[in-house]
This record gives sequence, C-alpha cells and structure tokens, in this order.
Amino acid sequence: MKTLLIPLDINATKPLYLQVADYITEAARNGQLKPDQKLPPSRTLADQNKVHRSTIINAYQELKARGVLASRPGSGSYIEKGLSENTVSIQKMPKGDVIQTDELIGEIRRMHWAEGVISLGYGPPSDELMPVEDFDRSRQRVLRRDGKKTANYEHPQGYYPLRQAICADLIKQGIQADPEDILITAGALEGVSLVSRALAAPGDSVLTELPQYFGNWTNFFYLGLKVRGFDLLESGPDWHSLETQLQDSANRPRFAFVTADHQNPLGTCWTMPARHQFLKLLNKYDLPVVEDATYRDLTYDGLPHTPLRALDTDVIYIGTFSHSLMPGLRIGFVLCNGRLREHIERLKAISSGPGETLNQRALADFLATGEYERHLERIIPVYRGRRDALLNAMQAYFPTDLRWTHPSGGFFVWIWLPENISAIDLFYRLLKKGITIAPANIFYPGPCPQNAFRLAFSPYPEDVLTRAVMEIGHLLKSR
Ligand SMILES: Cc1ncc(COP(=O)(O)O)c(C=O)c1O
Repeated sequence: MKTLLIPLDINATKPLYLQVADYITEAARNGQLKPDQKLPPSRTLADQNKVHRSTIINAYQELKARGVLASRPGSGSYIEKGLSENTVSIQKMPKGDVIQTDELIGEIRRMHWAEGVISLGYGPPSDELMPVEDFDRSRQRVLRRDGKKTANYEHPQGYYPLRQAICADLIKQGIQADPEDILITAGALEGVSLVSRALAAPGDSVLTELPQYFGNWTNFFYLGLKVRGFDLLESGPDWHSLETQLQDSANRPRFAFVTADHQNPLGTCWTMPARHQFLKLLNKYDLPVVEDATYRDLTYDGLPHTPLRALDTDVIYIGTFSHSLMPGLRIGFVLCNGRLREHIERLKAISSGPGETLNQRALADFLATGEYERHLERIIPVYRGRRDALLNAMQAYFPTDLRWTHPSGGFFVWIWLPENISAIDLFYRLLKKGITIAPANIFYPGPCPQNAFRLAFSPYPEDVLTRAVMEIGHLLKSR
C-alpha cells in the first residue's frame, strides 16, 4: 500500500499509540481504508510516521482488541470486514416486535413528500416560516463584500465571525464561550456523529434517554455503540432508572447524551433542580455529558431554562440553526474545550472537510444584524398557536383514556394509547386516510412500548392540525 501518514500530536495528552489506533479506526469506518486491506508492517509504518516501532505494535494490538484489525499468521494485519459506515448491513438493525424499525423510519420520511398527505409523523419546521428573503439580503451583502472568497474553502473550524456571533448569542443563555472552542458542523447530526466518534469506539456504550430521536440513536448504532437507555419523566430523568444504568459496571458508558430542553420525541423540558441533580450525579460517576440543544431557541412558555453547559463548563454542547431558522442551511455547531475540540476538528477534516462558505458568512451577518432575533420573535407565537391548536383538538376529539405530554417548546407531543391499542396498527389505518404519525418503535433501538406515538405540530397551520386530530380521534373512537 501507499505511505500511510497519520497526523500525530506529540504534545497531546493522548498517547501516540492511541492517536494511531483512533486514526486507523476512523479511516476503516469512513471507507478510507477498505475491508481486507493490508496494513504496512509495524516497522514500515513506524518509519513512515517517524515514531518508535513499539508505538505501532501497541496501536495494532489496540486495533485488534477493538475488532478493527485481524492478523493472518505469516501474512500481516488486515482491516476487518463490516466496519465501514457505508457497508454496515441493514440486517444488523435490531428488530422491533412488529416491524423492522428502519423500514418504518424510511416510510414516514418518504410520506412527507407524498402529494396530499398530512405528515404529522415527521417534524420539519414550517415552509411558510422560512425567512428566505431576509436571509437572501444577508447573502447579497456578503457576496458584495467578500466576492470570490465566498466560493473558496472556509476555515476548517468555521468562519470566525460566525463563531463570534454564536458566542454572543450563547451569552444570552448564560453560556460564556470562546470562538476558539466552537466547531461549525453540517447541522446537529454531524456534531452528534463527530462527538460520539471522539468519545467512544465500536463496542463501547453510550447512556441516553429513551425514547430518543431516531437520527441520534441510529447514529450511535451505526458507529457500533451500544445504547443504554434510561427513562424520562415530564420533570427530567427517572432517577431510579438512571442510577440503575450508572451502577451497572459491565461495559461502563463512555459518555451521556441528553436533551434537557424540549426533548424529541417526548416534548419534555427538565426542571432546574433536575438539571443540577443530573450534573451532580454524572460528576460522581465521572462521565462526560453531551447536551443536544436542538430546540433550545424554541421555547413558547416563560423564559428558557439555563442549559446544562451554563451550569458546568465541561458539558459538550451541540447546537443547530435547522429548526429555529432553516434546515437547508445545514449549519450547526459543537462547543467543547481544548483537545476534544481539536480532535473533532480533525475527524471533520477527514470525513467532510470544511463547511459550506457563503451560508456561514450570511448567517454571521444575519445574527450580527439582529435579524435572527427578529425572526424568532415572529415564529415563536406561530408555533405556540399550533401547539395550542393541537392540544385543544386532542382534548376535544381524542377518547378520554389517552394521555399526552404538554410541551413548553419544540415541535412534538407524545401520546400514550390504552395498552391494548397498537400504535403501529393505528399508523397503517391512518396511512389509508392520508395521515402519518410516528409510532414509538422508531425512537428505540430495542424493545419499546407498542402503545405510544409522536405527533408533530410544526409543519401545518392550525386548521389542518385540527382536521387531522379530528380524523385520528374518529378512528380511535370507532375501535
Ligand atoms: C433532537 C434532535 N437532534 C438533532 C437533530 C438533527 O438536526 P440537524 O438537521 O441540525 O442535523 C434533530 C432533527 O430533527 C433533532 O430533533
């Protein structure tokens, strides 16, 4: 094979052999190194990278322990099969009791684009609330100012004035951040993937709330992580369930991943005492915390709570402009300190390179000129009205033996049916009427309640939501 040059940092606290092992693990996962590809002998790789041979021998041992490398006696070391994200077999997806989860996720997504369907199973922001003209003015200003620079590569960490503008915005939430600690990503999802890859290796565990947004848990799953779930109450974690997971010392999780604000799919928001108690507990177990702040700017009742990151500067914070502004921008960010930020920047450089240029610059302008804040002031009352319309219609038209959450923000309501009613069954019956819902199955990597589902109120005006709820209520009453 050609020379394999590995970016190594001799000043890093992470030992050199682990830097080598992590680099090769990542290259095998993203397809840069192919299944069955032979790696150079340890002496050759050591010479190529100007390190001692023992560094490479230790790295190869670590890679074998991770299941990334296999040695063939007398022949050398080879990349194991089935590691690349692109080649992971769909057959490995855990099967739900009733239907394969991945098929269901695909069907719900596809139906959103089908003519005449009311898609309450999928929760994008509303088309009508996209500030396309206002944002275009920012684009035009930036094009006039920066000209051909807007067509070239952007800084690997993201456009500096955008990182500054994000920090200025975060201060309003009580988060003191330095632009040097921000990495711009392609939406929150890329942030979730990069942070997970930096903190854990295939076979490790992640601790997270279940149900969990399918984009997040499938991300963990396809990275080879085991998902260890704890339950949520409307006020925050179910402490018994969380402590049970924390006390189980077999395959201790590498990090905890949580959404304290307007969780997807439950729509719950943790109280302040729950936030403090959670951080204290996780600190006791010395577990890194990753906060998914996707719906942070979409609070409809009262003032937003203080984010976990504002209470503890070790918390890794993932933000995005997808829901509060426009998902088509594909701009999110990760806020984390020091070596971890450098590490995820390297991972991003390997997998997707620097982010898109023009939109980052336009977003910096949109934030700095106060347009983003004015946009939030316009959309929050609209989403609040849609949330109220959905809840009022459910109260009026759903049978009295159903229960649901009361979200103070975000896009979703979670509904429990009586135990003897299957949400999958309801999904297929509603599909015939041109309505989609999201059954609980898609929010769990394993066994799940069969009698719960999620409704999104974000994409439609109030009258459409009311009509759809009437239809669902009618079907449920005719059971
Ligand atoms: C909780 C949560 N995290 C992350 C994402 C992904 O966001 P993005 O489009 O910015 O990648 C979503 C999308 O719906 C989400 O609901």
